[in-house]
Amino acid sequence: MGVFSFPALKRVYISHLEENLRQEALLIGEVVREKLPDEKAIQNLALLAARDTGARVTIVDQQGSVLGDSEKDPRQMENHGQRPEIKEALAGKTGVAQRFSSTLGYQMLYVAVPVESSGEVKAVVRMSLPLNEVAKLQWYLALILLISFLMAGGAGIFAGIVLARRLTAPLCEMTEVVEDMASGNLERRVYYHEDDVIGKLAKSFNRMADTLAAKMRQISDVTNRLKTVLNTTGNGFLLINGAGKVEYANPAFVRIFRIPPDTSLLGRNYLEVAGCYELARIVEAVISSKKPQSREITLYGRGEQVLAVQGVPVLDEGDFLKGVLLVVNDITQLKRLEQVRKDFVADVSHELKTPITVIRGFAETILEEPENTEAVTEFSRIIYNEAGRMEKIIKNLLDLSKLETGNVQLKREPLSLRSIAEEAGRFLKQKHDFFLELQGDGVAMVDYDLFLQVFLNLFDNAIKYSRPPARIEVSFEENKSKVFVKVKDEGIGIPERELPRVFERFYRVDKARSRKTGGTGLGLAIVKHIIELHGGEVGVQSRLGQGSVFYFTVPTMLPCGQNG
Ligand SMILES: Nc1ncnc2c1ncn2[C@@H]1O[C@H](COP(=O)(O)OP(=O)(O)O)[C@@H](O)[C@H]1O
Ligand SMILES: [Mg+2]
Repeated sequence: MGVFSFPALKRVYISHLEENLRQEALLIGEVVREKLPDEKAIQNLALLAARDTGARVTIVDQQGSVLGDSEKDPRQMENHGQRPEIKEALAGKTGVAQRFSSTLGYQMLYVAVPVESSGEVKAVVRMSLPLNEVAKLQWYLALILLISFLMAGGAGIFAGIVLARRLTAPLCEMTEVVEDMASGNLERRVYYHEDDVIGKLAKSFNRMADTLAAKMRQISDVTNRLKTVLNTTGNGFLLINGAGKVEYANPAFVRIFRIPPDTSLLGRNYLEVAGCYELARIVEAVISSKKPQSREITLYGRGEQVLAVQGVPVLDEGDFLKGVLLVVNDITQLKRLEQVRKDFVADVSHELKTPITVIRGFAETILEEPENTEAVTEFSRIIYNEAGRMEKIIKNLLDLSKLETGNVQLKREPLSLRSIAEEAGRFLKQKHDFFLELQGDGVAMVDYDLFLQVFLNLFDNAIKYSRPPARIEVSFEENKSKVFVKVKDEGIGIPERELPRVFERFYRVDKARSRKTGGTGLGLAIVKHIIELHGGEVGVQSRLGQGSVFYFTVPTMLPCGQNG
């Protein structure tokens, strides 16, 4: 109970008590003064006063002898002159003391005041009270305090509960809704009644839920569309993670690689799943380059199957490779058709070769007949010329189909490209007038006959499509891996929109001009095939009326595993 600071409370109470006793003692003192020295009257006064005040009243004379006492017979009482409170009072002041009374067995409070008459202390009135009342009062106070404390606490708790319920009810509801939303039900909303903080929170919460639901709908729309596309496309898709484990495979992939339909693929190694080790080469190339790679692979399972496979790196924000996406296109049918076309062209050209040679031979014979009419001579010349053109086309077509089908044995050796160009120049100088300027040189692994054909075709074009005499500049630049060759003329040029098509077979910008100059429209197609067969690339730049630059690259070395 010390918490309530009872000592302080006690002190206040006691000093109050002291003051009361002093006032009473002073009043009694007034009466005593009148009654002195009548001892009997004083004894009566003590008894009366004690009855009225409830305190013990003791009256002593100036020597300390007891004149009256409310509890004992004064004649049997010892001298009180030495009691501290009485000593004080005899000195003219108010004396106060607390002591344990062995007679009564409690702690007592004593207050003594002097009774003065003509400036002299004649007697002392002493009042005393047991302090056990104070102790009792202390407990009583403590009890009251405890009860009020409990009541206040209870009220506080009650108020707290009411307030908390008001606050937490909507929060609890929100929690429930959030949990519901987390498990997928995005249609739930929080109900709110008031526009207080909680109401505002609920409103923002609902708005957030609306946005979330809309976004989720968008995502699921996109996902569904994507799913439909992936499930119905003819292209096979396989997504593998960095460890080579399958993360996704669409139905087309399963079909193309003839995987039993209900095999579970997720988490399995892709090579084991697809049973095709050629895929590893593409995946490795993608991993090491972090760039898309494409390759054609052939499967020899049930019949031959040709697949165009594209590997695409899947990178995260830090450009770190997370996996590889393989897109597989079954091009078996396409390849078969292309083969049919190539075979057809080769067969037709081959079949036409002999009859056309015969026609040309007979036309030549008729032409040489001395008795010919003019008309016969003219017609047989036309037949002879056209048959010659046809022969050229057929020869070109045969060359082209040989190159296309890979039916040529390349005799590759390290050769100076400049010397091949010089040879082509020498050959064409026999028929045409033109300037040829060569710069630099480069040695590459090439087939002499085919590269002679490349330069013949390019120079022939430069001459044909320039005003005579044509100026041709050829430059060679060699670096570690390839030779870069440019053939530049100052001729008529090619319109920009025609540029992408000039390497197609039979494509001519100006058909009439090409025919007049004996073109077949096959020259550049042959050039492109020869360069690509050597592992190089070809291209063109041109400005109409200003000239053209045909350029190509050839590797200086053979790719691994290939020899001349
Ligand atoms: N150096 C050039 N300058 C302008 N046009 C050219 C040049 N080279 C080729 N071409 C254009 O490209 C077409 C295709 O060339 P090519 O395949 O060699 O056939 P062609 O038999 O007509 O020469 C030509 O008809 C011509 O229109
Ligand atoms: Mg040509």
